[in-house]
Amino acid sequence: MATIKQNLARSAGLEGSDSARLDTELLLAHCVGRDRTWLYTWPEYELAQAEQRAFDTLFERRENGEPVAHLLGEREFWSLPLKVDASTLIPRPETELLVETALEFCPAEKLRALDLGTGTGAIALALASERPGWQVLAAEKSAQAAALAEENRRALGLDNVQVLQSDWFAQIAPQEFELIVSNPPYIDAEDPHLDEGDVRFEPRSALVADRGGLADIERIARKSRRYLKTGGWLMLEHGWQQAEAVRGILAAAGFKRIESRRDLSGWERLTLGRHK
Ligand SMILES: C[S@@+](CC[C@H](N)C(=O)[O-])C[C@H]1O[C@@H](n2cnc3c(N)ncnc32)[C@H](O)[C@@H]1O
Repeated sequence: MATIKQNLARSAGLEGSDSARLDTELLLAHCVGRDRTWLYTWPEYELAQAEQRAFDTLFERRENGEPVAHLLGEREFWSLPLKVDASTLIPRPETELLVETALEFCPAEKLRALDLGTGTGAIALALASERPGWQVLAAEKSAQAAALAEENRRALGLDNVQVLQSDWFAQIAPQEFELIVSNPPYIDAEDPHLDEGDVRFEPRSALVADRGGLADIERIARKSRRYLKTGGWLMLEHGWQQAEAVRGILAAAGFKRIESRRDLSGWERLTLGRHK
């Protein structure tokens, strides 16, 4: 059996990952039931047979490209531990910009918000955890992803979130929200990045949209005003080259005070507009 140090050294051979060392640490920590710091406190610890076998299996799957989040079954978003699976997108750190912006624009303690295409529930649960007085409706088309969001909601004890299976607005009863947020599918089907890295293991239904990636954004923008209170906000995450097009879509749908926001890398990845 190998020691922690010897197992960590295998990261050098983990090709195709740009975070090989971190990936190896996370998988190893998971298999020995400890956190990553422990690995460096006990480098000479020799893995038990079952621990070694579990690590070998996960490491091999990672070598074959499977995302670490799928191997661990979990990903942290906005400091919330979320269960993940192959039914939807693995929450991305850049989506925290949407949460930050929503909290900045909507300081109210009581408010009704809608998260369209909630996936794991990431955005809805983050908002609800920050604002216990908000009522958040989390809508999702995939039955499996909606069940996952509900499982995450229950595990976090967030009673101010309701998960609903819905094809965008189709199953949402007429009502008015002060805030609608969405990180919809927005990748062009021809984008070569779809054949690289972790996205190969995520469903196309969570990633790809027609019309160069803009079809779902257009659908959401067109319908949203009917579900927004006067002065309510629509906030959409989109691709780094789509900001201008999305501003145009929001303008055509009648939104005011349209602006885009940049992520930490300087790309415009979020566009918002106000209903009147
Ligand atoms: C890019 S993922 C975002 C998931 C999650 N909101 C996040 O930020 O991690 C898009 C989500 O929209 C869902 N979706 C796709 N088409 C939909 C539709 N017509 N109605 C509702 N949800 C849809 C997908 O199943 C997927 O969960």
